[in-house]
Amino acid sequence: MDKAFTEFLEFYPAFRETRQLDALRESEYSRLDAQKHIYLDYTGGGLYADSQLRDHITLLRENVFGNPHSSNPTSLAMTNLVEKARQAVLEFFHAPPDEYVVIFTPNASGGLKLVGESYPFGADDHYLLTFDNHNSVNGIREFARSRGAKTTYVPLELPDMRVDKAKLAEYFKLARPGGNNLFAYPAQSNFSGVQHPLEWIEQARDMGWDVLLDGAAFVPTNRLDLSEWKPNFVPISFYKMFGYPTGVGCLLARKDSLTKLHRPWFAGGTITVASVQGDKYYLAEDEVAFEDGTLNYLSLPAIEIGLKHLRKIGIETIHERVCSLSGWLLNNLMVLHHSNGKPLIRFYGPLSSNRRGGTITMNFYDPHGQFFDHRQIEAEANKVMISLRTGCFCNPGGGELALGLSQTELIGCFTKPQDRLTLDDFRLCIDGKSSGAVRISVGLVSNFADVYQFVQFAKGFIDKNAKV
Ligand SMILES: Cc1ncc(COP(=O)(O)O)c(C=O)c1O
Repeated sequence: MDKAFTEFLEFYPAFRETRQLDALRESEYSRLDAQKHIYLDYTGGGLYADSQLRDHITLLRENVFGNPHSSNPTSLAMTNLVEKARQAVLEFFHAPPDEYVVIFTPNASGGLKLVGESYPFGADDHYLLTFDNHNSVNGIREFARSRGAKTTYVPLELPDMRVDKAKLAEYFKLARPGGNNLFAYPAQSNFSGVQHPLEWIEQARDMGWDVLLDGAAFVPTNRLDLSEWKPNFVPISFYKMFGYPTGVGCLLARKDSLTKLHRPWFAGGTITVASVQGDKYYLAEDEVAFEDGTLNYLSLPAIEIGLKHLRKIGIETIHERVCSLSGWLLNNLMVLHHSNGKPLIRFYGPLSSNRRGGTITMNFYDPHGQFFDHRQIEAEANKVMISLRTGCFCNPGGGELALGLSQTELIGCFTKPQDRLTLDDFRLCIDGKSSGAVRISVGLVSNFADVYQFVQFAKGFIDKNAKV
């Protein structure tokens, strides 16, 4: 491995500037190496530093906190920290406080649901979204549909799985003048790692769209500067950024866009006044109207701690490390061939590290061109403590395109008589095609040994036959 590392450094000299992360891994994430984990699922979830836990627990142990939004001392102490966490999020994303608010949610999906259920879709309105989207973004189409709005998917182009610029400009023309038009896309794909242009935000807004930018897979390793980019809504999950706590995300929303949303109900905490006999309620202003019930308040100070941790390292340093490691991974995986010259791996997404993140999705093929079932790859990876992810990663549009599943075929599968389609039924239906892929992703404390060992693992499939 030493020789490979020397060559790696020659090829990626900027990696040296990220060496503080190797020291950090030793001091703060030592459990990874002590337990011999090769963690390659940062797109699934980030990892936390020991100090994040320590700082959070110390805070909880040394203080008495009550339910916020009351006026007693324990409540005020908590309210103070909740508002500090909100402030820290705005600062981290350089979001001007007079333009953006932070709505705390259970996760990115919670933020997406808030937009979906409250966006004033009506007949002839439009929901436009890329094929490449997480299911929690796809699911908004059900809100649009139930209110008579049209949903349109923007296709991706193979092999890179990006969107054609000229075609997108045509789709943008679908906005109904004066109507409610919502355009949703991920800043980074959780399927292919593609980073879709942030320039689309302004283009779409100029054409009459409100923009929902899914930041969940992008923000853990890239700078999103909301003083520069002005999407209407950005949902994220904090565990993807710094591992702890789970159960908290947020929706960053433009204040002027919130006024457009109509909440379908009211709840504890979201109103100024509600009456039983008067049969009326008044929603609170800004973020308060969107935070249903009691927040996960004891966890919120851990958000500020996590953001401070990232800030201390520097998001640019994390970005550099992820680019170097994923570039090396791609270069060293794509050269793997069987003895008969057939390639071992088929990738789904761009093969260069340009405009892509540290998520790499692929399938393994044997010398006869038969794919290895992704479940088999996962089972083998588990044996050597490699944590990777398989399936379609809740991104069916990306998966269907990558795996060559046509609309006719899929409509056929979804009109089967049974009420529910299990994954096994689905596999049978798309007979002979892979129903999923293998995804690896690098992040905050990935090191060269992680990616080197994955390449060694992949080499183990050379000249092996897949089970049919
Ligand atoms: C791009 C993207 N959007 C949304 C989500 C949903 O995040 P959560 O499950 O935390 O709500 C994910 C999760 O993997 C994601 O990768």
